[in-house]
Amino acid sequence: MSQLFSPLTLRGLTLRNRTVVAPMCQYTSQHGFANDWHFVHLGRFAQGGFGLVILEATGVLPEARISYGDLGLWDDAQIEPLARIVDFLHAEGAAAGIQLAHAGRKAATPIAWRHGFDESEDDKVKYAFETWVPVAPSAIAHNANPSFQTPTALDTAGIKRTIQGFADAAIRAEKAGFDTVEIHAAHGYLINQFLSPLANHRTDEYGGSRENRMRFLLEVTDAVRAVWPEQKPLLVRISATDGVEGGWTIEDSVVLASELKSHGVDVVHVSSGGFDGASIKPRALYQVELSAEVRKAGIKTIAVGLITEPRDAEEILEKGEADLIALARGALEDPNWPIHAHHVLDGAEYDLWPKQARARMRDKDRALGIRQ
Ligand SMILES: Cc1cc2nc3c(=O)[nH]c(=O)nc-3n(C[C@H](O)[C@H](O)[C@H](O)COP(=O)(O)O)c2cc1C
Repeated sequence: MSQLFSPLTLRGLTLRNRTVVAPMCQYTSQHGFANDWHFVHLGRFAQGGFGLVILEATGVLPEARISYGDLGLWDDAQIEPLARIVDFLHAEGAAAGIQLAHAGRKAATPIAWRHGFDESEDDKVKYAFETWVPVAPSAIAHNANPSFQTPTALDTAGIKRTIQGFADAAIRAEKAGFDTVEIHAAHGYLINQFLSPLANHRTDEYGGSRENRMRFLLEVTDAVRAVWPEQKPLLVRISATDGVEGGWTIEDSVVLASELKSHGVDVVHVSSGGFDGASIKPRALYQVELSAEVRKAGIKTIAVGLITEPRDAEEILEKGEADLIALARGALEDPNWPIHAHHVLDGAEYDLWPKQARARMRDKDRALGIRQ
């Protein structure tokens, strides 16, 4: 059996294999609620054999959303439609995770496929349009594009309220039945803004030295870990490097990963970038080396970023560069990616096909002489 399709146990959670669906914003919620789009989009990945499906960046507070279309978990009423999705993922053999997020100064931006805020007045009603002034470590806009407002700098009370927002959202995630939560500390969003000297110009205990810039994330981690069940794993997604001169570096990430481990984090999901001017050039497997570096801190990692070939995924695990393999666009392209990868790596194994299809797919492949 390949490593990719061997189970992995994290605390009390056993994943059926090492394949993960990376979080993907859908900008398709109203007032933060999950709906049928999310149910079908996510359910398909469980039917396709993924081990862990991580739901998109989910605002822990209303002002935490990247756009008015983001999922949210700031209200108990938002639990129920998420629980329906979790139940389906479980019924199809996948574990369910959710990314708890705060966009900071990159909040209240237009929905990705719109040309700025081009909604008509009718659209605004139809799509539950909302806007607000974002918050951030410092009152500096992400860039000069009018999509990004100048944020209000969080005061100490605002920081405490935000940390509480993460903890309260984790409690709701537990009520919805999720197996894991992933704290979103990547891609230039709020936590990444605290980590990076590019966005954090504070002079209090949350700014200045690396230790001070890490404080917000470590306090969020402690608050979430305190309410998240002991037997359930906790994930953190980081941008291992900003890829910008004077920004957060891979060396910083190795120090951070070791801190996260001592604060009860089980897995670091290793991404990169999120600030303007990044020199990172996406190419096949481009973030795997960052995962390998972070893993040297003695913590498990998820590698992500243009991983599409099953044999590449297996080699990453064999070489000890990561413990899990995540796909985002590759999963959109082929929601059955694990089923197909399992055939490539392990031959005539049909166990990942849903029972409704398993025997028929074997018959088809035998008839065509594809595999016995
Ligand atoms: C449609 C889409 C939405 C995304 N939304 C999120 C998100 O909510 N949170 C996040 O951390 N990354 C998000 N990402 C980044 C992916 O999780 C992933 O890291 C990136 O696409 C690289 O992986 P890939 O090459 O397999 O697509 C998104 C990517 C896509 C394509």
